[in-house]
Amino acid sequence: APVMRPDLSKCHDASSLVLGDCLKCCPPYTSGDIVDYTFPETPLRVRRAAQEVIKDSEYMDKYKEAVRRMKKLPDDHPWNFYQQAQIHCAYCNDAYDQVGFPCVPVQIHYGWLFLPWHRYYLHFYERILGKLINDDTFTLPFWNYDSPHGMTMPEIFTDASSPLYDGNRNTSHYPPVIVDYAHSHDYTAGSGETGNGLVRANQCVMQKTFKRSLQRAELFMGEPQRAGQKPCSGPGQLECIHNTIHNWVGMKEYPHTDMGDFATAARDCIFFSHHANIDRLWHIYQTMRGYKIEFNNPDWLDSTFIFYDENEQIVRVKVRGCLTPDKLWYTYQEVPIPWIDLDC
Ligand code: C2O
Repeated sequence: APVMRPDLSKCHDASSLVLGDCLKCCPPYTSGDIVDYTFPETPLRVRRAAQEVIKDSEYMDKYKEAVRRMKKLPDDHPWNFYQQAQIHCAYCNDAYDQVGFPCVPVQIHYGWLFLPWHRYYLHFYERILGKLINDDTFTLPFWNYDSPHGMTMPEIFTDASSPLYDGNRNTSHYPPVIVDYAHSHDYTAGSGETGNGLVRANQCVMQKTFKRSLQRAELFMGEPQRAGQKPCSGPGQLECIHNTIHNWVGMKEYPHTDMGDFATAARDCIFFSHHANIDRLWHIYQTMRGYKIEFNNPDWLDSTFIFYDENEQIVRVKVRGCLTPDKLWYTYQEVPIPWIDLDC
């Protein structure tokens, strides 16, 4: 059976290996109807690359203003910047038990829920930002780290005077330092490459990830995760690259906040551009497969999540509702994808 939506009224303290057991991540909730989400028909919204939007000052002003407003909302407002980050904590740090399985936490990492859940999370976050600045066309930028043009932390996030800035990062990885897909928390691993060699090594990792998994969706997306199953450790290969990038951005020192811990990761605006790229890579994967559905199985398709939408309504969504970006009325700017036919 599919993993059902969590019961908000039973949300409890969350825990994290590094931050302890009494994390408060539950969304503000007393009672209230939960309705099926109806997808708003907006103009097709285009998510652009971070290295492009930096040249568009009108866009940058809007994005910053939206985040500024989100940060100023009352602490218990469901749209508040930190509340938005708590959504991630609650779904990832065991604040919910699965309905009908009191000892099994809801966990949307390490398996086939990873990509759809984060697609929805970004969708609602983006719609809320748009609402805060009254712009129905607002989109998040993507961090294009699969391309040689995007392999450093986007500069839109490294200006300390911007509301998009977060001080809890590994500042020794600021531009021009190139991301390393083989990086590990404790610096015991690494590609051993620098400069162009590193750019090339990263691209080859990406290419191999796609090639290997093209015929077997669970290799890319993650292993099945069904109702009542303990969160399994079957992350897809894209999720693994994603983890590395989290660790590479988070603070060098233990406990590697913000990006290096699920409970705090979404307090850094870069999180959403990181995930926009993960989401875009999923879409590229779908295109390469000719849109053959990854898992034609109700246990996946009917997995259910809940979010606050941009009208402060609590809504229910299913995996089947988000299979392609156009279902949510957005798409990605086309940028060159040099790793596709690199000679690796
Ligand atoms: Cu839910 Cu990038 O992690």
